[in-house]
Amino acid sequence: MTTAALRPLDSEPMLEIQQLSVRYGRAVHALRGVSLRVPANGVIAVLGSNGAGKTTLMRAVSGTLPMHRGIVDGGEVTFDDASLLRRDPADIVAAGVVQVPEGRRVFGRLTVEENLRAGAIGARDRRSRTAARERVYATFPLLAQRRNQRARLLSGGEQQMLAIARAMMAGPRLLLLDEPSLGLAPQVVAQVAEVVRQVSEQGTAVMLVEQNAAMALALAGHAYVLELGRVALERTSAELAGSDEMRRLYLGVADDGGHVPARARRLARWSG
Ligand SMILES: Nc1ncnc2c1ncn2[C@@H]1O[C@H](COP(=O)(O)OP(=O)(O)O)[C@@H](O)[C@H]1O
Ligand SMILES: [Mg+2]
Repeated sequence: MTTAALRPLDSEPMLEIQQLSVRYGRAVHALRGVSLRVPANGVIAVLGSNGAGKTTLMRAVSGTLPMHRGIVDGGEVTFDDASLLRRDPADIVAAGVVQVPEGRRVFGRLTVEENLRAGAIGARDRRSRTAARERVYATFPLLAQRRNQRARLLSGGEQQMLAIARAMMAGPRLLLLDEPSLGLAPQVVAQVAEVVRQVSEQGTAVMLVEQNAAMALALAGHAYVLELGRVALERTSAELAGSDEMRRLYLGVADDGGHVPARARRLARWSG
């Protein structure tokens, strides 16, 4: 993995989140005034430890908060200047925003190819569906080899690839990836990172949620750190990698006494 070229955020953002607040019930304020911008190109990373609000942020964008009894109680989410709030998840997919949820949910009893077909939402006819599938197989050659295998027989890394590939079948302009590295061995994480890089190079913007700061920062041109539902830091990847504060807090680099701060221990769990 090499550090991605810096992409300035001066162009108009494709996705803009402004002062977003989200609650679950009365007591849980999962997001408190979060603002974030995703440009039409490249990868932005959203880092943060468990419970920081990363998944909630994705749900707010993909329109799936109501399924989890979440409520937006302030702020705005716009994609191409149109609000995504109070819109149907299918409508948001049709607009070009597709989420790969946590936990690589694939249909285990279906084959790889059947899983991909299930993702071909919005493709108008059989020919365009076939074309979408062949495009996806070109990016994921391993899946092409396994096209007739049942998804439950794939390894964890292969299932994650399939989950991403299925999302790509809808031809998204913005891909929302929720912790794709979770539970994967370091060399498999590197393969997933390579696929994300290719997806981005093919012109799909990526919002990458991760606890694996090392992986995310290797891909991202811009990063946000969420803490307890707020943006605690916003940096370019060069700033993030170069900052001692960041290295100590989020990449698990020991300070002089060889002591790793508590937060680093938590976040560095999957760092390669
Ligand atoms: N469906 C839910 N109902 C109630 N509370 C939730 C629900 N989902 C998440 N939360 C709470 O919201 C906060 C943010 O969670 P989440 O967005 O899942 O964080 P992350 O993805 O960063 O781990 C946490 O306190 C979590 O317990
Ligand atoms: Mg999460």
